[in-house]
Amino acid sequence: MAEATENKQYVALARKYRPQQFEDLLGQDALVRTLTNAIQSNRLHHAYILTGIRGVGKTTTARLIARAINCIGADGKGGPTIHPCGECENCKAIAADRHIDVIELDAASKTGVDDMREILDGVRYKPVSARYKVYIIDEVHMLSKSAFNALLKTLEEPPAHVKFIFATTEIRKVPVTILSRCQRFDLERLSIETLMTLFHKILVAEKIEAEEEALRIVARAADGSARDGLSMLDQAIVLGNGRIDTKIVKEMLGLADRLQTFGLYEKLLEGDVAAVLENLQEQYKNGATPMVILQDLIDITHLLAKIKVLPDFINDPSVSENDREMCKKLCAAPINILSKIWQMLIKGLSELQYANVQIDALEMILLRIAYSAGLPTPAELLKELKKKIRTE
Ligand SMILES: Nc1ncnc2c1ncn2[C@@H]1O[C@H](COP(=O)(O)OP(=O)(O)O)[C@@H](O)[C@H]1O
Ligand SMILES: [Mg+2]
Ligand SMILES: [Zn+2]
Repeated sequence: MAEATENKQYVALARKYRPQQFEDLLGQDALVRTLTNAIQSNRLHHAYILTGIRGVGKTTTARLIARAINCIGADGKGGPTIHPCGECENCKAIAADRHIDVIELDAASKTGVDDMREILDGVRYKPVSARYKVYIIDEVHMLSKSAFNALLKTLEEPPAHVKFIFATTEIRKVPVTILSRCQRFDLERLSIETLMTLFHKILVAEKIEAEEEALRIVARAADGSARDGLSMLDQAIVLGNGRIDTKIVKEMLGLADRLQTFGLYEKLLEGDVAAVLENLQEQYKNGATPMVILQDLIDITHLLAKIKVLPDFINDPSVSENDREMCKKLCAAPINILSKIWQMLIKGLSELQYANVQIDALEMILLRIAYSAGLPTPAELLKELKKKIRTE
């Protein structure tokens, strides 16, 4: 699946491993299934809109569609196919971004109505060498109002030889009039397991050694974006001299030591204020940023609460071995305390953002929690109160 690289120059993994077939597009099963059906039965919509966070495969999908509908096969006789051959002139030109009939533009830089008119002017002309003229418009939500209106006219009566593929990270900013004329695909965040699969596949191809824990940390930090995950791997490979190492990845991401953060959590639940502050200072000294520690604490709270409600979740593959051990230890925490901690931590997020000295702000947030976590819950208070009334 890698594009050939002639020279020794380092090519970013995300670029080198852009999926060249629908099978390589991970985690977007619904989209792949629907497109496969549409292409096989030759019932393609004239306009698609792809939405999702950055780095989940929008541009990749747009190019794959362009190839699938324009591939003529190695012998020049093939029709549209879900498995573009990669050898015919159309496939090669589209992959190299130089096909005259596949027009890709970034709405972020061409927002005006004049740009749009100029582009749409070409819509009437038949494709030069492809079956369909394909217009790929990235970040389509950035178009100006008048540009949208110009586009709308064309979308109402598109010539049969034209396909539009729009991509956006902000679907809510796209006018309904446009949306109603497109078939919409929501690309999903890639799960931690899917990202791990992708990483393994690429690292095997690159013959790069990696620690499992390091990959999991990167997968978690990527927050669903394949591109972000692969960029982090690029960085980790350089820093680790060709090897992906847990310690280096942690340093690189300014990551708190997860085990230590679990320790912090334990002390927090116990209301052991001195130990909480000591743990925090220790982590800070070792380079963890307050924001990352706070986010880890939020993550742990969520994990504990989830396991509380769904005990089987502790065996879910997305829960790392270390997390599992620690969760077992902390699972006695009652759900109402967890939800109280959650609220206070979430509130802490914005406090931290506006604080001059973040570590001090985090100290205050944790103090507040440590002092209140051990407090009786409203229900317990009520019980106490009733007891008192009865005895009086
Ligand atoms: N679903 C996916 N499966 C495998 N790799 C992906 C996927 N989505 C993104 N990538 C990787 O990330 C890179 C950027 O993807 P791209 O399609 O440009 O993202 P988007 O347009 O959604 O921001 C690709 O070249 C590929 O390496
Ligand atoms: Mg893109
Ligand atoms: Zn082809």
